[in-house]
Formats: sequence, C-alpha cells, structure tokens
Amino acid sequence: MRGGNKSVSSGVRPVSGAYLDGVPCEADPPRALTVEEIHNLTAEWSAAAKRAVTEAGFDGIEIHGANGYLLEQFLHDNINTRTDEYGGSVENRCRFPLEVIRAVTEAIGADRVGIRLSPYNYFQDTRDSDPNTHWAYLCQKIAELPAKSRPAYVHMVEPRFDEVLSEEQKLASLSSTRVEIKNSLTPFRNILKAGGVAFLAAGNFGRDNAVAKLEGDCRAADAIVFGRHFIANPDFVARLENGWPLNKYDRSTFYGASPPEKGYTDYPTFAK
Ligand SMILES: Cc1cc2nc3c(=O)[nH]c(=O)nc-3n(C[C@H](O)[C@H](O)[C@H](O)COP(=O)(O)O)c2cc1C
Repeated sequence: MRGGNKSVSSGVRPVSGAYLDGVPCEADPPRALTVEEIHNLTAEWSAAAKRAVTEAGFDGIEIHGANGYLLEQFLHDNINTRTDEYGGSVENRCRFPLEVIRAVTEAIGADRVGIRLSPYNYFQDTRDSDPNTHWAYLCQKIAELPAKSRPAYVHMVEPRFDEVLSEEQKLASLSSTRVEIKNSLTPFRNILKAGGVAFLAAGNFGRDNAVAKLEGDCRAADAIVFGRHFIANPDFVARLENGWPLNKYDRSTFYGASPPEKGYTDYPTFAK
C-alpha cells in the first residue's frame, strides 16, 4: 500500500524501480481497475475539466494520454493484459482514452480539449509491440468523432525523444527491436488533418529544427511544443523572435532540487 492506497493500472505489471519511500515497485504491484472504476474515473475526468474551466479559469484541458501515465497504461500492450472490453485488441485498448475524450469534450466543449499521446514511449516502461498500427487506429477514431466530441488538437511526442536515452540511442533501439519508423509522426498527422484536428509535436525541438517542421511542403505540424528550453528561458518567445542565444538547461535541477524553485524561477532573462 502506498499512503494507504494501492496503486492502480490497466493490469498488474509493476513499473521498474522503487517508490519514493524506497520500497521496490514489484514488491507492491498495482491492481487492475474494475470496469466500474474506469467509468467512475471517466466521470471524474469530465468533472475536473469542468471545474478547471468554470472555477479555475483555464482556457482548456489537455488530456494526458502519454508517457506511461494511466491512459497510456491502457494503450500499450506490454502493460495492458486485460481480457475484458478494455484490453486485448487495439480497439479495446483505445476504448478508455476515447471515452475520456468524449466525456471531457461534452463537459467543456470540443474546442477547449486536446490530448497528448506518445506512441513510441519507453518512459515508465510502456512499449507497444506495434505502435504504428495502433496509434493510426486511435488517430482515425479521433478524426472520425462527431464535431462536438472531436478534440481541437492532438499533441504527440516525437519517437526520437526519450527521458533517458539520447536521440541516437532511442532511434537505434526502436528500429532494432520492433518498429520501423519511416516518417516519424507524419502518418498520424495526416490522418488527423483529414479530420480537421490540429497537430502539435514535442521532443528535442529548438531554434534549428522547429521552424522547418512547421514550414515548407510537408508542414509536418501545426505547432511545436517546447519543454526544457521553456523551463530554462523565462523570455523564451522573445529569444526566438529576436535570435538571442538560449540559456542552457540544467538537468540536475529538473526533479527534486533544493530548494525546489531552483532551476525553475532563477534562470536569467536575456541581457542585451
Ligand atoms: C522537468 C520535466 C518534467 C516533465 N514532466 C512531464 C510530465 O509530468 N508529463 C509528461 O507527459 N511529460 C513531462 N515532461 C516531458 C515534456 O513534457 C516534454 O515532452 C519533453 O521534455 C520533450 O520536450 P523538450 O525536448 O522540448 O524538452 C517533463 C519534462 C521535464 C524536463
């Protein structure tokens, strides 16, 4: 038990490593959510989205369907070992994320909703056996949703990005083990584009490669999302606009720095 609560997932496979209290995760694996709990969580997602917009003043909500978090634990077949309508086939593994999309769009309006996905994720141990087919199906289902349920955008993480591996290591690992990546995220982008769903891309973008992704014949994304450069540059947009150099981010302060604001509020703005 962690803090009195058993962790939950699509199945019972523990994540590698240890909990914050040092207990190995495999010593206290998750339990699989019941179907009733899945339905309750979908309702919670929608209620939370409603509160965020009506009470907290959010412009919109991005549903987290990426990076090994709960919805992704249903998508990837190395984690989702269920035998009910939420496991097994690609169709079944997409069911929970699609139900959350429908519930959240109904609660706050489809134009205020996006979803983040990471077909090629390794982080937190999700590794699908056939991400190209699986996420193409999911994108097709998203693109085919009726307008009132179709999210404004899908935000995807580039296959080359990994929390631990370098870009070269990640791509070598993907192609050597299981997945041939010819066009990176382009097939997904094209499916979504046909349904009028905007496409955002994240992962190892900087000044040199972001614009190329947005321009030219391929127009491979509608917007680029930045993570680490944004953390390290409080005036990031002005730096890009004006061609000013970027502060280098310090990995050692990303997680658990002391004091916790170190690496978040103390990077300098550009001095001319
Ligand atoms: C300190 C830190 C915390 C992050 N936390 C999350 C998270 O909670 N959920 C998530 O999906 N991605 C998380 N990410 C990943 C980023 O959202 C982003 O996808 C990643 O950094 C790649 O973009 P970048 O190359 O522009 O940094 C985090 C990244 C950093 C550096």
